[in-house]
Amino acid sequence: MIQIAIDGPGGAGKSTISRAVAAKLGIVYVDTGALYRTVGYFVRSRELDPKNREAVIGCLSDISIEVRYAEGTQHVFLNGEDLGDRIRTPEMSMYASAVSAIPEVRAFLLETQKDIARKNSVIMDGRDIGTVILPNADVKIFLTASAECRAKRRYDELIAKGQNVQFEDVLREMNERDTQDSTREIAPATAAADAVVFDNTGMNLEESVNAVVALIREKTGFAGA
Ligand code: DC
Repeated sequence: MIQIAIDGPGGAGKSTISRAVAAKLGIVYVDTGALYRTVGYFVRSRELDPKNREAVIGCLSDISIEVRYAEGTQHVFLNGEDLGDRIRTPEMSMYASAVSAIPEVRAFLLETQKDIARKNSVIMDGRDIGTVILPNADVKIFLTASAECRAKRRYDELIAKGQNVQFEDVLREMNERDTQDSTREIAPATAAADAVVFDNTGMNLEESVNAVVALIREKTGFAGA
């Protein structure tokens, strides 16, 4: 069993790179942001303010989240329903970021994440994987890139999905969210003391994936499951 932790700000390529590395190594890719997005989605569906701690805590007992993997793809079920891409909008990014600053929400999602890593060899991406969820991970990487580069990737992704967005708005919202995620009191998005900081500004997907695989092999000798 192997545990690889990938943390870093939005748009650094965590999910795309992790998915490709997982496929190469034959391990499970776990997208933990999807869990916070799912809580955010529920809060939105109740028309609650995601920063209203009491209101958000009050609805946790009505939320049941289940994570399943089918052919390398993660599916998150909210009260039995697969939300698919409905959690992938810029609005859901902001809801996820807001609810993720609430300690009770983090506690609510903790065991689900740890349990997946107990049962599978994983590459798990998020903000606190190396610091909180998998403190003993075999490899910890803090993936980052310049703000413009990250915003451009996020913009291209949203445009490819047919969403009608402006680059300036994507950049502004991304910066707002990163500030919120890295300055919150609980589990702020920071590199673990023993993480390798990897800045992939200007690198394409293949170069980034090869660099991450090389790092994993160098640190663990793991050549694939
Ligand atoms: O990785 P993402 O963009 O899907 O994450 C959405 C939000 O969830 C992000 O702004 C902060 C929060 N998050 C977190 O606090 N901890 C994680 N491990 C993953 C995501």
